[in-house]
Amino acid sequence: MGRKSGICKRKDRQAEFWPCAGLRGREEIMEQKESRLKALKIGQLVAKRPVIQGGMGIGISLSSLAGAVAKAGGIGIISTAQIGFRDPDFEKNPLEANKQAIHQELKKAREIAPQGIIGFNIMAASRDYGQYVKEAVRAGADVIISGAGLPVDMPKFVAEAEAENLPESVAVAETADPGTKEAANAAFAAGGAAGTGTDSTVGTNGRRTMIAPIVSSVKSTLVICRMWDRKYQTAPDFVVIEGPCAGGHLGFSREQLTAYGADTECVSRTYHQAEYDEEIHGIIRTVKEYAEKYGKEIPVISAGGIFDHEDVLHQLSLGADGVQAATRFVTTVECDAPSAYKQAYLDAGQEDIVIVKSPVGMPGRAIKNKFLERAARGPIPPERCVRCLDRCDPASTPYCITRALIQAARGNLDEALLFCGSNAYRCERVETVEEVMRALCGEENARESVFGV
Ligand SMILES: Cc1cc2nc3c(=O)[nH]c(=O)nc-3n(C[C@H](O)[C@H](O)[C@H](O)COP(=O)(O)O)c2cc1C
Repeated sequence: MGRKSGICKRKDRQAEFWPCAGLRGREEIMEQKESRLKALKIGQLVAKRPVIQGGMGIGISLSSLAGAVAKAGGIGIISTAQIGFRDPDFEKNPLEANKQAIHQELKKAREIAPQGIIGFNIMAASRDYGQYVKEAVRAGADVIISGAGLPVDMPKFVAEAEAENLPESVAVAETADPGTKEAANAAFAAGGAAGTGTDSTVGTNGRRTMIAPIVSSVKSTLVICRMWDRKYQTAPDFVVIEGPCAGGHLGFSREQLTAYGADTECVSRTYHQAEYDEEIHGIIRTVKEYAEKYGKEIPVISAGGIFDHEDVLHQLSLGADGVQAATRFVTTVECDAPSAYKQAYLDAGQEDIVIVKSPVGMPGRAIKNKFLERAARGPIPPERCVRCLDRCDPASTPYCITRALIQAARGNLDEALLFCGSNAYRCERVETVEEVMRALCGEENARESVFGV
């Protein structure tokens, strides 16, 4: 890995949690809860801070990170990508292991933030996508966000699973305290679930689980909005725009990334932000048309390279209602990634962040390492296949993405694919989620660290 370019380099940067956190700092952090920014409303959900933490698979955003973000007033997102990888039965029966882990992780996140907003990111390219969406609804997700492919049938899967919950929810309606989320959920169900699973009834009575597609262009926004409109007579509850600076899989071809200046070793200098801003304007206009048609608000959330308050203000000035950030949350105390993974972010220079070809069939962004050097020399045949992706052919895949991402989640960095956003090189120290939220929202004392740094 190269040198950290530019800014301050602390020799003693460590990706460990230092328990010597100053009490004064913690108390101040607890006091400063009000965001200067407008709350984010999605249906009946209200996030005090308009920040969604992007889902990060495999095993990077689980209950600890999502719970902490939700507790801090944002929206915490658990990634379902091979979420059950630690289950002893995972290799024998990955689907069941993943389904169980969906319930377990959400339960743990709710223990951290009982009143918080917590949901899942489910990749549309996953094999068994529909089963994961239904399981997330059954577990009680507040929101589901889906990208990495077009989540064409997401409304149907959500409606089918919500309809299953109907009798139980009606029973809860009679006992729940008025004004609680439990009561709101039950009231929704008592008013009629979103249908019986047949296409024509989906969306007519609304949903309890708020759903969003991830889009990257006006074209993909139009495609998904038209499909949901025609097939299910519904519109998204919110939309996440993921730009060319994001981490993980990207919704752009290599050529598009080149055209935006987003595939160089110095994206901060070469990125044509104004051009993509135009695309964001177009996406917002498109979403507004569907909001009008359905007579509802459809908040638009902007993602990709959001690192500080200025970035947030810029996206809000374009008309976004909130932001989604992922990379900045990796180097938090609460992030579920192992310390070695966090350290790789702290050590990375801008020139270490590269575009890679993923077996998912899309480009991705990751930190250069031995694994990528090895993959560049030729295919790495998979040892075993858990059939994670619809479109992956184990015989011709350049490498097994599940294995490479599980190695990352285990901290075996030399054998791992280390996904990151273009700003990972700006991570300088381990922070708490509360600190990151303050920094993003432009609140006072944002730089005050519980580590006394
Ligand atoms: C380590 C990592 C893993 C990610 N995994 C997923 C994923 O499994 N599914 C997905 O839709 N997006 C994934 N993303 C994208 C994020 O959810 C997010 O939208 C994006 O990274 C935002 O840009 P930022 O990282 O610059 O803030 C991942 C991003 C990172 C950094």
